[in-house]
Amino acid sequence: MIKLRNYKLYLNLLMILFFISLSTTKCENLTFSLANFTKANTGPDFNFSNDAEVTQWALQITPDSSNAPESYLVNKSGRVIYNTPFQLWQPLNSTTNRAASFNTSFTFNVNPIVNTPNGEGLAFAILPTLDEPPPASHGGYLGLTNETLDGNPLNKFIAIEFDTVKQLAYDPDDNHVGLDINSVKSNATTSLKPLGIEIALNATKYTVWIDYDGAGHRIDVFMALEGVAKPGKPALSQPLDISQYVSQWSYFGFSASTSTRYELHCVLAWNLTIEILPEPKKGRRLLGWHIAVIVVGSLAGLALTGFIISLYMRRKKVGDDPSVLVGTLKSLPGTPKEFEFKELKKATNNFDENLKLGQGGFGIVYKGVLAEENTEVAVKMFSRSDKTKCQDDFLHELTIINRLRHKRLVKLLGWCHKNGLLLLVYEYMPNGSLDHHLFGGADRPLLPWDRRYTIITGVASALHYLHNEYDQRVVHRDLKASNIMLDSAFNARLGDFGLARALETDKTSYAEIELGGVPGTMGYIAPECFHTGKATSESDLFAFGAVVLETVCGRRPRCDVSGFQFLVDWVWKLHREGRLLDAVDRRLAGEFDGEEARRLLLLGMACSHPAAGERPKTEVVVQIIYGAVEPPKMPPFRPAFVWPSAVVDDLGSTSTSTMVTSSYYGSSAAGTPQCWSKEAHASTPEEVSMR
Ligand SMILES: *[C@@H]1O[C@H](CO)[C@@H](O)[C@H](O)[C@H]1NC(C)=O
Ligand SMILES: *[C@@H]1O[C@H](CO)[C@@H](O)[C@H](O)[C@H]1NC(C)=O
Ligand SMILES: *[C@@H]1O[C@H](CO)[C@@H](O)[C@H](O)[C@H]1NC(C)=O
Ligand SMILES: *[C@@H]1O[C@H](CO)[C@@H](O)[C@H](O)[C@H]1NC(C)=O
Ligand SMILES: *[C@@H]1O[C@H](CO)[C@@H](O)[C@H](O)[C@H]1NC(C)=O
Ligand SMILES: *[C@@H]1O[C@H](CO)[C@@H](O)[C@H](O)[C@H]1NC(C)=O
Ligand SMILES: *[C@@H]1O[C@H](CO)[C@@H](O)[C@H](O)[C@H]1NC(C)=O
Ligand SMILES: *[C@@H]1O[C@H](CO)[C@@H](O)[C@H](O)[C@H]1NC(C)=O
Ligand SMILES: *[C@@H]1O[C@H](CO)[C@@H](O)[C@H](O)[C@H]1NC(C)=O
Ligand SMILES: *[C@@H]1O[C@H](CO)[C@@H](O)[C@H](O)[C@H]1NC(C)=O
Repeated sequence: MIKLRNYKLYLNLLMILFFISLSTTKCENLTFSLANFTKANTGPDFNFSNDAEVTQWALQITPDSSNAPESYLVNKSGRVIYNTPFQLWQPLNSTTNRAASFNTSFTFNVNPIVNTPNGEGLAFAILPTLDEPPPASHGGYLGLTNETLDGNPLNKFIAIEFDTVKQLAYDPDDNHVGLDINSVKSNATTSLKPLGIEIALNATKYTVWIDYDGAGHRIDVFMALEGVAKPGKPALSQPLDISQYVSQWSYFGFSASTSTRYELHCVLAWNLTIEILPEPKKGRRLLGWHIAVIVVGSLAGLALTGFIISLYMRRKKVGDDPSVLVGTLKSLPGTPKEFEFKELKKATNNFDENLKLGQGGFGIVYKGVLAEENTEVAVKMFSRSDKTKCQDDFLHELTIINRLRHKRLVKLLGWCHKNGLLLLVYEYMPNGSLDHHLFGGADRPLLPWDRRYTIITGVASALHYLHNEYDQRVVHRDLKASNIMLDSAFNARLGDFGLARALETDKTSYAEIELGGVPGTMGYIAPECFHTGKATSESDLFAFGAVVLETVCGRRPRCDVSGFQFLVDWVWKLHREGRLLDAVDRRLAGEFDGEEARRLLLLGMACSHPAAGERPKTEVVVQIIYGAVEPPKMPPFRPAFVWPSAVVDDLGSTSTSTMVTSSYYGSSAAGTPQCWSKEAHASTPEEVSMR
């Protein structure tokens, strides 16, 4: 039998093969066309927010009424969304996403109401959910955002606005088209008057064509009177890679709002054609029967291939030898480049000790220069006595990091496998790791506040991606300052996925890795891990909290400070005494933003909560850092760690069980300052192996 571990890799391989077999199938488009709107033809397919409806053969994005304006027309926002999600992009390889092209056209008009000023406007929107417009999204927010949300990258929307009010702060005039990315402050606008278009005059009907070229990364918006042919020249044309902004699966719809100025916003007809990306999973529902045949055909072919491979593997008794898989991976597109061993040997000057950048649990990292391209790289050599395990680690890191794409993750450039020696080649990070800058000694220039804030923002964003945005959730397991790399602009990049585990596998145990290296480092390990031995997204957040505090305070998570062994306990004491900001790195000599520092310290404390379920989720973390959400209120005393307690599993459901105070905090009552005592630690068997 094939061992479970290899079986998992083998499944991954099958998924890749499946993907490839599909990507060679012909591209198809999905089209719909509605010449008018009725309750019957919109009922099942569209979602209407409270203030939107269908009447007069049209979508009324804000209420259609001329009675009692105060009740029906003032300060309204509405959305009408086509409720089938479309896949707008997919990852192609480690650096590139593939975006779907789409063409859409619609006819709309804006009815002014006699003797009142017009407002506010209408937008075609790509949205991540079918949600109602956010509260207070009337006025200039067009039903898209509100004062707090505007500009937040988590909004994940792109809209083409047709705006009839000039917001003094950012609009060019009261009659323009604009490209909005996560904000109503447009990235680009065009005044329509010179094109002979007045949106809100005489309820004139206009047709708009929006063409998005997914390969060319460009959006073009054309506009003309209804019945007039599509103009040759776009009214607005912008470079745009939607994969940078919107969710992979997004919705199309319309959004509009009024303020004390109002008008009616009507969409009269709508066509859409979108390219179907060759992705298996959720796509099937959307495809025609002929695609279904291809899918079933590929599945059958795949099963056959899988069967043959498994026979082959069994006959050759190579179930334990991943080199077969390496060989196969080699021939797959989308996998990073394979390097020649001699090329890497040369690049690192025969693995010169002087070029050693660092040493981790799983290997040594060297700096190298690729002669041909004259580019600097970091080469990680896997080093463990147990060869099989070593190969597993290698393949594991390769499969995980190769599937992850985020600008805040260190990029994998390639790999090399020779005579059992395994190497991964990464982008070189000229500014080294965060801990060098925080604790590098007097010769390092002090890391200024702005940079610290940006670094934390980057780490939060990467963690959010790992936990949520990628199909299969990934826990990093080894988040710490020495694994946070800094690129030339001092942006954070998360590195070292040696310990990362896709959450769906059962391999999230700390205890399993007991050799040589230290999986997790004191001060970064969540207390529950000593009991469960399992890494979870919550334990990643605990480590993140430690990184936040260490970056703000300029002290290691485990340090001796005012009689406390853990930084977080000291910070908590200052919080209790009402002098939280005294925790900020003294070396900054007061050169920092007090509000930002308060936010980060409270966030760091919240993430250090001993109860896993109480730690904020990455989405909230990002919003707190961004300033869109207040950090949680922290009690004066750090809550005591209890085990077992309310157990929070990965799906967030909780089940309560008995409360027992753990030896970590001694048996002293909750409510007194706690710190992890050395004795208590040493008494825990798991921890001994973790040193
Ligand atoms: C379908 O998509 C292809 C390319 O994706 C494009 O060339 C073709 O014009 C589209 N067909 C229709 C009917 O829009
Ligand atoms: C609505 O569109 C359908 C075709 O989709 C057409 O048959 C019907 O006449 C249209 N009704 C009006 C009032 O335009
Ligand atoms: C409409 O909203 C504006 C600002 O959002 C507010 O000042 C005004 O009082 C509101 N008017 C009504 C009738 O709700
Ligand atoms: C990713 O794919 C793009 C487009 O096919 C290609 O230009 C690029 O070189 C690829 N990058 C890697 C690292 O394979
Ligand atoms: C969109 O229209 C352009 C021509 O205007 C065409 O080349 C392209 O294939 C169309 N794309 C889709 C997805 O239909
Ligand atoms: C939608 O497509 C149909 C058929 O191609 C066309 O007659 C109609 O004018 C289009 N409507 C819009 C709003 O573009
Ligand atoms: C969208 O509309 C469908 C059908 O009316 C409804 O079941 C669903 O709850 C709606 N979803 C949202 C998010 O409003
Ligand atoms: C904006 O919307 C968010 C999310 O729905 C909400 O939490 C926030 O209170 C809203 N802001 C305002 C000013 O109403
Ligand atoms: C658009 O504006 C947003 C918010 O200002 C900004 O984050 C983004 O980088 C801009 N995008 C482009 C393509 O200009
Ligand atoms: C708007 O309508 C009014 C009366 O219906 C008409 O006098 C005026 O010329 C129209 N304006 C334009 C620009 O069509």
